[in-house]
Amino acid sequence: MKLDTFARSIILSPKLSEKLQRYPGKFDPSYSYSVERILSPGRPENLQIQKAQKASVPSIKGMSDLQQRKRIIHAFANHELQAAELYAWALLAFADAPSEFRSDLFQILEEEQRHTKMYIARLKSWGIQLGDYPVSGYFWNKIPSLLTPLHFVCAMALTFENANIDHTIDFAKAALQVGDERTSSIIDVIHKDEKKHVQFGWKWLLRFKKPEQTASEAYCENISWPLQPHLAKGNSFYPEKRHEIGLSTDFIELIEQASRKQ
Ligand SMILES: [Fe+2]
Ligand SMILES: [Fe+2]
Repeated sequence: MKLDTFARSIILSPKLSEKLQRYPGKFDPSYSYSVERILSPGRPENLQIQKAQKASVPSIKGMSDLQQRKRIIHAFANHELQAAELYAWALLAFADAPSEFRSDLFQILEEEQRHTKMYIARLKSWGIQLGDYPVSGYFWNKIPSLLTPLHFVCAMALTFENANIDHTIDFAKAALQVGDERTSSIIDVIHKDEKKHVQFGWKWLLRFKKPEQTASEAYCENISWPLQPHLAKGNSFYPEKRHEIGLSTDFIELIEQASRKQ
């Protein structure tokens, strides 16, 4: 299967099994294909994207109650599915980007598919399927403003996945506190991968930014409203996790000190 056909089927297929299928081959840097910007995903009927109000998710406090925990993990599975769709989207939208960049996108796409499957397996152990609750399209809503690979890494890797470094620590802890080791260990595995995804964003921020800019300046220039630096962290903030993967002190402080702008 050609890479672009594969990416298109992940985004547009109405079958969940096709969205989660593995690529039957390796990334081929010599294969070229056309740029394509898909505006919304194909989804099975029960995974159609709903307005955020219809797909509300309990806060972290809900982790102590099994019924709410199921709802939270269901939302996480949908986040991972969106991440897989959006890395596939970027493979098509940035078909003319360097092959090393697209090879990185491809690798992360496979990891996001794996994360989705891990959460689906957990839901299954509770007798739940992905699609049993309404889902939102938070990441997809940002697509129109992602016009360059730099926009993409600043939004996806350095904002959403950056915040997920903190969320995964807090939710893994919350699961452990109520004795749900299985959920905790799944979130923990995903935490380790999300750090690599932030590292991917950092690597390409440094490569793509203007030489005269600092990384922080380039990040601020390339995220657009409503994304802002304060969205790159969770309710807790773990700077040491960012240091471990090589982000600069300057950039970590930018995120740490950021607050919501009106
Ligand atoms: Fe993920
Ligand atoms: Fe990720």
